[in-house]
Amino acid sequence: MKIAVYPGSFDPITNGHLDILKRALAVFDKVIVLVAYNKDKKCVFSVNERIEMIKDAVKELKNVEVDSTDGLTLAYAKKAKACCLVRGLRAVTDFEYEFKMAEANHYIDKSIEEVFFMSNSEYSFISSSMVNELHLSGVKIDSLVPASVIKAYKNK
Ligand code: COA
Repeated sequence: MKIAVYPGSFDPITNGHLDILKRALAVFDKVIVLVAYNKDKKCVFSVNERIEMIKDAVKELKNVEVDSTDGLTLAYAKKAKACCLVRGLRAVTDFEYEFKMAEANHYIDKSIEEVFFMSNSEYSFISSSMVNELHLSGVKIDSLVPASVIKAYKNK
């Protein structure tokens, strides 16, 4: 069974993330969406809020699990018996960051591969912080994020 872990801050999950997840599901038997800790980010939503938004957004999909960790992504992946980490690449600007992170992960453990999916051009401009900013400015974001995220903003 080929298991992949799709880690991220997901603050919040966007339609771009969901596109990557659906495509990863066509390749792997199971994908675990992992809310992980990014030391450089001050998040808008709590880990539990992010998990709930993701769980609702993936409820129609098969072979998906949602979890969180405050440790190393690689340690989680190893414990979950995953063979790969999945990440999305939107543009060249993502490349350098992803390359460094993949190198660091490889330094920790070479047995887990990193697999990248190119973002669909429709979603390549979306980012979580942009969604947060647009929402704060009163711009409609319904076509950028799943319904659970809109609901979570309303409850905030
Ligand atoms: N479509 C749209 N947006 C996308 C996207 C896609 N396909 N793929 C990524 N993004 C955006 C996100 O919205 C996010 O935007 P933002 O920076 O404006 O918030 C950005 O690209 C990347 O965020 P995300 O994918 O949510 O993850 P991240 O880069 O914050 O995740 C971790 C980094 C959490 C995976 C990493 O820090 C980690 O593994 N931490 C755990 C500790 C660890 O193992 N550290 C060692 C790492 S070497």
